[in-house]
Amino acid sequence: MISPQVIEEIRKQADIVEIISSYIDVKKKGNQFVAVCPFHADTNPSLSISRQLQIYKCFSCQAGGNVFTFVQEYERIPFIDAVRKVAEMIGYSSSELDKKERSVPSEVTNALNVVKQANELYQYLLKSNDGKQALDYLLERGISQEMIDYFELGYSSSNPELSIKLLRGKGIEIEQLEKVGILKRSQGLFTDIFTGRVTFPIYNEHSECIGFSSRRIINNDEAKYVNSPNNILFNKSNVLYNYQNAKKEAKREGYLYIVEGFMDVFALYQAGVKSCVAIMGTALTPSHAKMIKKLNVPVRLCLDGDEPGQHAMVRVGEILDVEGIEYQVVDYGKSTQDPDEILQKYGKDILKKLLNRVLDKYDFIYLYYKKKFDLSSSIGRRQFAETLIPQVSKIKDEISRDILINRLSLDTGITKDILNKECAKLVQKPEQKATFNTIQYTPIKKSKKSKLDNIQRATLMMMLSSNEAIKDYQANSNINFVDPLYLEIANYMIDILETQHEFDIGTLISVLQQSNNQRSQTLISTITELQSNEYSQPYSKVAMEDNLMALKREYDKNKNEFKFKNETYGKDYGEQAKILQDYVDSQKGDK
Ligand code: CTP
Ligand code: MN
Repeated sequence: MISPQVIEEIRKQADIVEIISSYIDVKKKGNQFVAVCPFHADTNPSLSISRQLQIYKCFSCQAGGNVFTFVQEYERIPFIDAVRKVAEMIGYSSSELDKKERSVPSEVTNALNVVKQANELYQYLLKSNDGKQALDYLLERGISQEMIDYFELGYSSSNPELSIKLLRGKGIEIEQLEKVGILKRSQGLFTDIFTGRVTFPIYNEHSECIGFSSRRIINNDEAKYVNSPNNILFNKSNVLYNYQNAKKEAKREGYLYIVEGFMDVFALYQAGVKSCVAIMGTALTPSHAKMIKKLNVPVRLCLDGDEPGQHAMVRVGEILDVEGIEYQVVDYGKSTQDPDEILQKYGKDILKKLLNRVLDKYDFIYLYYKKKFDLSSSIGRRQFAETLIPQVSKIKDEISRDILINRLSLDTGITKDILNKECAKLVQKPEQKATFNTIQYTPIKKSKKSKLDNIQRATLMMMLSSNEAIKDYQANSNINFVDPLYLEIANYMIDILETQHEFDIGTLISVLQQSNNQRSQTLISTITELQSNEYSQPYSKVAMEDNLMALKREYDKNKNEFKFKNETYGKDYGEQAKILQDYVDSQKGDK
């Protein structure tokens, strides 16, 4: 359990603008910051972030809150994990936060430390005399010194025992090296499995180095690449090469490119694309797709241009579809090369152009299958249609589906009517699934506000911006908010002012977040909406007194009705009906 004090300290030390900027592209606009809201589909910068108040608000979907809310919603993680995450991002440490780390088995922590040390050693060796040949190899392949540092490329000594000895010199045991798969025993010697190779550190989704891949530097009959074997840290089916960098760049660049190999990641880097991961020559797994989904950007598939590469993209697309990840496919045209080969042959400008020449996923699938059949024969046309129909029937967007049906009809000579009928046979009930990039919020009704509502809002806005206004409200104990939602917010404000001697909107949101339920969401949304309201008046004692007087006048006008509303708030229908009956009766009595 993390105490509210620690949560509050973390919140105060974090800067919401910086934290949000590490996820999405944030721009300065006057003394506010704005961004394209990641919580609904949009292209306009409707998300506004206030550094002063440490809150954000979307004017379009009404998402809003403090730094924790953002991380929580963006990463779709529980509140307490969002707190940890923010603490980690700002380098906040406290023994309370360490508790969880201790529950990570110490075996894992030790193993991570071993791999980290090895990574440092390999980088050092690449720069040593021993690493000269490896360095030349990399430079010759067009990998610059800057890239070597960025990707932390290294080299494990050509002397098969040296790296092991150096690591043991740092107090690491043989067993530990064996456990993380760095060491093998051969002919009575302990040797490093990466000996004489260039090393590529591989990171997990928490940006911890968990293992390596390595490439031979001379063309011999040894394996071209040797990877860490699966062990407590490393499992090939859930690692994506370069994920740790892509994670930082994805939002800025707007896409995540997926390529086949290391050299392709380096090629894209040279063409200016850093948001790129490699699947390391294997198939894409559902765990990969889940990691990719967390980056919350559409994917651009850029596997090799040859037939296996194109085929693999169809399969990768199917896995992405399952996770609801949007994707496009880089159009290689007739080229059968990989991005690295294109870079070597034609240079980075051509590669850059290619990377931006993309096909919509349906067009890609259509063209992919079209090439596979001989459309000059009726059998070929039939097979083409039979292959495509199951794909087409899965498309939920009617326009996309219709376009493909039209095209298929033209290419095969089968009427649209028949094609549609065949499709309809396959259409199942549409799955109820969250769409990409969308979180549902209940928008606040934009209906015309009553006079009473306006005055309540003006009063509350003033209280949100000034401790003095809260005190004034408190001093007039006979005047209350009528709307239960506003009343509840005001009560929270008084509590905070009393316990912490200072009210601050970020604290209020934090307090509400801790009772994570639907109503606290509504309260947070109301608060952030009020806070970012452009009509808010600055505090003055006179203005506040005016507000309170007006509030009282409006209240007195409609007393009974409000009484009914307040009493029924949160009650079930049966109770509401009873209260309503009493209300009606009392109205009769008045006459
Ligand atoms: N791969 C692997 N083990 C191998 C061969 C390939 O793990 N024996 C993985 C590597 O991640 C590699 C990717 O599959 O980057 C693609 O393989 P390939 O196209 O053969 O390698 P390239 O990246 O093109 O490497 P190079 O240009 O150095 O040949
Ligand atoms: Mn290659």
